[in-house]
Parts: sequence; structure tokens; C-alpha cells
Amino acid sequence: MAHLAIAGGEPIRRTPFPRWPFWNHEEVEAVQAVVESGRWGAQQGGEVRRFEAEFAAYQEAAHGIAVTNGSVALKLALTAAGVGLGDEVIMPGYTFVATATAALEIGAVPIFADIDPYTYTLDPASAEACITSRTRALLPVHLGGRPADMEAIMALAQRHNLVVIEDAAQAWGASWQGRMAGTLGHAAGFSFQSSKNITAGEGGGMRIMSWAGTIASASSTVPFSGSSCAAIPCSSPSGRPTRPIWSKRCQKSPASRRYARTHA
Ligand SMILES: Cc1ncc(COP(=O)(O)O)c(C=O)c1O
Repeated sequence: MAHLAIAGGEPIRRTPFPRWPFWNHEEVEAVQAVVESGRWGAQQGGEVRRFEAEFAAYQEAAHGIAVTNGSVALKLALTAAGVGLGDEVIMPGYTFVATATAALEIGAVPIFADIDPYTYTLDPASAEACITSRTRALLPVHLGGRPADMEAIMALAQRHNLVVIEDAAQAWGASWQGRMAGTLGHAAGFSFQSSKNITAGEGGGMRIMSWAGTIASASSTVPFSGSSCAAIPCSSPSGRPTRPIWSKRCQKSPASRRYARTHA
């Protein structure tokens, strides 16, 4: 057996990893143009809308809505799905804390299932064992860009009439069986926080996926309520009246989730 490089073996990599983040004059000029315009608000220029459209297209989803960060995206996705006080949301025990706080912040209860020891993502069998009469949603996490077993998770959701929100914060550009992460469940959240594959520094813009019926109201309602998030419709979870839920809850929320032109 070959020796590890640390023990005198041949290193598999001889060049240092590139610096992070990458940027060039295009980013600098784009930020400079917004700053010098004196019109910094999200709705005072086309950057946010363009970013939403381009990101959604890249992820092969129909729509995107940018919000302040990945945590808010997950929270909005859960809220839009009708998850609320006392509802149980099943998620992997191994993830970033924001997966759980997204549920807690809307009064839902995070339930931690085991992870698959080979993929470190949500184990569908363990998730099934966690289902109770209070379970409303599954929240698989595509950890480190590795998608969870979405085939098994979607089958499980269908059997128990659950909504599936993908935590795709770490999975920009990842795919599962030829389909892009974030289009596999009913909604998803991405993060552009400083450690992510594309980043806007802190307060990363993000997207949530939403299902077809909600997008018209989502795009018009969310900025109205002081928000700017990204919704990307994919499929419709059976029988859930998502449109009124989204509109009502987003309009009730007093918090601003707007995304900045400089970030976009
Ligand atoms: C798995 C996971 N979920 C959620 C988040 C929350 O994203 P944000 O920091 O943009 O709120 C992150 C990243 O920080 C994450 O890694």
C-alpha cells in the first residue's frame, strides 16, 4: 500500500489550493456602478431580478427569488409549505445549525434522524422511523455538495403526504441522477455565505424553490412584505394549498429580507 504523503509517499497535489474567493474587475466594476448610481435599493435596478433569473436557469428551475441568506430561505420555504407551530420537521442530525433554527424560528420542532454512514446525508429509513402524526416536512441536507438520496426521500414523502424542503445551502451546481439539487423536492434554499461555492460574502443571497402554483404570488408578495427572496417552482406536493399560505404568511411577517443590488 502506498504511503501517505505525510509519511514520505507521493503527494497527489503539488500546487496550493487557489485563493478564495475569486473575483476580477467585472465584480469590482459591477459593485462600483451600483455604488456610484446612488440608487442602492433592491428595486432601484435590475441586478437582483437578473441574478434570480440567471441562478434559476443555471439550477434548471423555473424561478428564483433572492433573500438575505440561506437561513431565511429555508424558513420561508417551510412557511410557504404551511409548516408552523408544533409541526415536526425531520432533518439529519449532522448539518449546520441553521437547518434546525429555520424550523425553530417558525415554532416548528426539528426532529433529528440518523445519517447514512457512507454519504453523511439523511438516512431515509431513519427518517421514516421518526414520522409521527405531527410530522409535516422532511428537510434533507445536501452536505458538502453531495445530494441526499432524493429518490427514497421523495418516495417516503409521497407515502406519508409530507412536504420536502431541500437544504441546498452547500449544493450550488450539484445534481442527483441528472437533475439539479434544489429541483428534486418541493422547495429549496441556497446560501451565498462566505464559505459557499459562490459567495456574496456574509448575508449571502439565496434561493428557495417553490412549486408552480405559488410563484406568481410569491414573486409579487415577497418584495411587498419587505422581502426579496428566490423561489423556484418545481413540482406540486399533493393537495397543499400553497398559494394562500405563502401570501398570507409572507405578508404577516414584519422582517425585511431584501437582497442588495451590490450583492447581486
Ligand atoms: C447546510 C447549511 N444550511 C443552512 C445554512 C445557512 O445559510 P446562511 O449562512 O446563508 O444563512 C448553511 C450555511 O451557512 C449551511 O451550510
